[in-house]
Amino acid sequence: MSTTQLETVSSTFFQDVKDGLSKPQKELPSKYFYDERGSELFEKICTLDEYYLTRAELDLMETHIEEICSSIGENTLLAELGSGSSKKTRLLLEHLDEIEAYIPVDISADFLNSTAESLREEFPDLTVHPVAADYTRPFPLPFRDRAERTVLYFPGSTIGNFTQDRAKRFLGRMAGLLEPGDGFLIGADRVKDINLLEAAYNDKDGVTAQFNLNLLRRINLELGADFDLNQFKHHAFFNEEKSRIEMHLESLADQSVSIAGSTYHFSTGETIHTENSHKYSREHFENLVAGLFTIEKEWRDRYELFSLFYLRPLKD
Ligand code: AVI
Repeated sequence: MSTTQLETVSSTFFQDVKDGLSKPQKELPSKYFYDERGSELFEKICTLDEYYLTRAELDLMETHIEEICSSIGENTLLAELGSGSSKKTRLLLEHLDEIEAYIPVDISADFLNSTAESLREEFPDLTVHPVAADYTRPFPLPFRDRAERTVLYFPGSTIGNFTQDRAKRFLGRMAGLLEPGDGFLIGADRVKDINLLEAAYNDKDGVTAQFNLNLLRRINLELGADFDLNQFKHHAFFNEEKSRIEMHLESLADQSVSIAGSTYHFSTGETIHTENSHKYSREHFENLVAGLFTIEKEWRDRYELFSLFYLRPLKD
């Protein structure tokens, strides 16, 4: 990343932190979880017994890979929103024979380039063309004119981390980007037994707690704040009315924290809301995509924990 890019990132980070901590219900955007340490912790979360999401999505893909690939079709430009380093991506690439190009789109250029390099080694015949961009904003799709269709791939239920409004706007932009005949392959975590849901975000080894607290560590490191990480506690629960897991950091004392000359007060028990992770029923997901996409296919894992949808854009 260039110095100017870095400055822009940290000044937006600073502004987002100031804005979020000035609200009556303090909040911080979950996208800031993913610095180097946060990304490592997230990788670790994906291997935890309690975190069923990654296993379930991989299981459904292994079971239905032929059908998934036949939906994606031949001579397709496959663009993944996110890094594309996972087993799920490899499974797709191994089974898609006539693919025009694979375009991972991610904000972290370093991570993207190393992913692209290893994919090129593993799939020497594949055109891998990384695009370093924030996929929630307009981004270029190279090689599109060479391909018969474009399919966007958005695994992992990351859509669940957006608020409903942002999810709708994001889906609207993706529908606008696609043409008739194109597709959108998107993963979504299903609503299920509350104990299973809450366990996935309160693992016994405390990795999710570290992941959550890492946000304060990042603010200390990058914005010169003085959060005492021992004075905050990870708290995650299922909000049934909103059908989402909420992650918070709860203050264990009356305390003040200074961030670049400004002071923020926290009362005992007050929380910073750090993440939402929405869980969908079929009906809920249908409502989310209504007016933008039709659901052509839905695949589920054997325990019906997770869904992968193949959507087609609705065009007048
Ligand atoms: C990236 N995202 C889909 C994860 C989720 O489950 O919402 C992030 C996460 N947060 C805590 N554990 C995992």
